[in-house]
Amino acid sequence: MNLDHKTILITGASQGIGAATARAFAAYPVNLALLARSQPLIDDLAAELNQRPGVQALPIVADVSRREDIEAAVAQTLDAFGQIDILVNNAGVGMSSPVGEIDYEKGRALFDVNFWGALMMTEAVLPSMRERKDGLIINISSIVGRRAMPGISVYCASKFALNAFSESIRVELKPDNVRVVSFYPGVTATNFGDNLLTGPTSVKGKGRAKVTSAEDVGKAIVKAAIKEPRDAYPTLFDRVFVWASTLAPWLMDRMLARY
Ligand SMILES: NC(=O)c1ccc[n+]([C@@H]2O[C@H](COP(=O)([O-])OP(=O)(O)OC[C@H]3O[C@@H](n4cnc5c(N)ncnc54)[C@H](OP(=O)(O)O)[C@@H]3O)[C@@H](O)[C@H]2O)c1
Repeated sequence: MNLDHKTILITGASQGIGAATARAFAAYPVNLALLARSQPLIDDLAAELNQRPGVQALPIVADVSRREDIEAAVAQTLDAFGQIDILVNNAGVGMSSPVGEIDYEKGRALFDVNFWGALMMTEAVLPSMRERKDGLIINISSIVGRRAMPGISVYCASKFALNAFSESIRVELKPDNVRVVSFYPGVTATNFGDNLLTGPTSVKGKGRAKVTSAEDVGKAIVKAAIKEPRDAYPTLFDRVFVWASTLAPWLMDRMLARY
């Protein structure tokens, strides 16, 4: 999609990948709706991005696990900018969940954000996209939504569920010309690990994982918005990891058991 003068709604825009994505989109003359729960952070980010030429940024305080917040956020965006061209479903939380110790309440809360939040956001923006027969939805999954990792099964399951949703609606929405991109980051340098619903993460060897900066991931998300591939990865490593896991899952089991 040509980004000039488009309206982009980004969930989880207060920090990490969401904030970096907003900064990367702000290299173009765009309208940005920045959604998160932390008002001071999105107010500051909007003030910063409003300094960029041709950029209008609107902070929106909302919790994606609350349907009434989502409906109000979409209405606020449409009131301000008239349309929503791109939705980036980025808001997400993690949790450490070794089997036998899984906190069901926290697990449900995680699904409310990572899966149901993305689903409700999508349904809320769809009527306006369908009406215009144009729109793009970018769902921020994870490479662990393609190959689950030990110790974080609930988080991985939420991303597998998100992928299933993306795959299903990608075909369903073709007649409406609403496109769906699944985006799979690997380990990214954000505060994600500090914001876990239960933690700290018990994944051993985490320090040895290849880490990408949030800025590079944000730029890759903008590139995906322009090129609209079916699946997008910020790095070659992430792509090869998923490819190898699909080709030889048994080998990955062995490697992970050692790792
Ligand atoms: N970091 C990684 O290694 C990594 C790897 C693969 C995929 N991902 C995915 O990338 C996405 C962004 O993660 P990140 O690394 O940037 O994490 P992060 O730094 O912890 O940021 C998470 C963002 O989600 C928002 N958020 C959380 N719960 C929310 C809710 N209920 N309603 C609205 N916003 C909510 C947070 O804002 P507030 O707290 O202000 O609401 C924050 O802006 C997530 O979907 C994550 O699963 C991350």
